[in-house]
Amino acid sequence: MSIAGRIALVTGGSRGIGAETARLLAAEGATVFVNYREKRRRADRVVGEIAHAGGTAVAVRADLTDPAEVAAMIEQIRDRAGRLDLVVLNASGGLERDRAAGYALRLNRDAQVSLVEAALPLLPPSGRIVFVTSHEAHFHESRLGYDVYEPVAASKRAGEDALRERIPALAAREISLVVVSGDMIEGTITPTLLERANPGAIEARRAEAGALPTIAEFASEVVAAASAAVPSGYTVYVGGADYLAGVTGVSSAAGGADRQR
Ligand SMILES: NC(=O)c1ccc[n+]([C@@H]2O[C@H](COP(=O)([O-])OP(=O)(O)OC[C@H]3O[C@@H](n4cnc5c(N)ncnc54)[C@H](OP(=O)(O)O)[C@@H]3O)[C@@H](O)[C@H]2O)c1
Repeated sequence: MSIAGRIALVTGGSRGIGAETARLLAAEGATVFVNYREKRRRADRVVGEIAHAGGTAVAVRADLTDPAEVAAMIEQIRDRAGRLDLVVLNASGGLERDRAAGYALRLNRDAQVSLVEAALPLLPPSGRIVFVTSHEAHFHESRLGYDVYEPVAASKRAGEDALRERIPALAAREISLVVVSGDMIEGTITPTLLERANPGAIEARRAEAGALPTIAEFASEVVAAASAAVPSGYTVYVGGADYLAGVTGVSSAAGGADRQR
């Protein structure tokens, strides 16, 4: 499967890992719908950068926790492209101060599943869904994490589990799911928030795990996962060799390696 010519949606594409994933997908020849919630200028900037580099992208607004906005976004994609070959479920949240209790679960589990359901009519056979998550979330049940990140980790793991439950139904339509899980990523907002609550957390993680993956490295693994010839349910691990010690089927403990769950 090649990326060129594919129609892709990247949720939370206005900044960080999502923005870089959108740029890399477009550089490989995909038409990219860059979803954002409220940072329109940032999303427009990503779209502008892609166009400047010769690629094709469109900014599409939707708060993923709002079914009407998701439906309108899918409609917009259908009108412009007619189909959707790839959905990168990158948008995430739950550390925001102004959100009601249960918001993390609504966004990181319920909204992920609802988006997949809403996108299904546009996904052809060989369509792919990539769920982006963190080691803190993926290994939530087996390893203690930071208190401040707990609601996000728990809800993202719940989201991953809910998506995995849909693998058989997706397989019936020849659509596959790949999970990409990463260590703390250098240069993103989440470690900065963790650092505020736990001064020294980033340095401690570097001391424990070595160099942390960068946004560019993580995003390139997400893009590779979008076209990799792997079975549905496959997990790509990026960084964090210490997390992987108990994972079955691990062939190498080097950071950035990619392995079966
Ligand atoms: N940062 C890390 O260290 C790290 C490590 C491993 C895995 N990851 C995973 O990588 C992904 C991206 O992380 P990041 O650090 O780049 O995230 P980020 O900087 O916090 O960006 C989050 C993105 O999600 C969007 N978003 C938030 N709530 C939304 C909603 N309700 N509806 C639609 N979009 C929404 C934001 O849009 P607006 O800007 O418009 O609000 C933004 O584009 C996440 O899935 C995260 O779990 C991150």
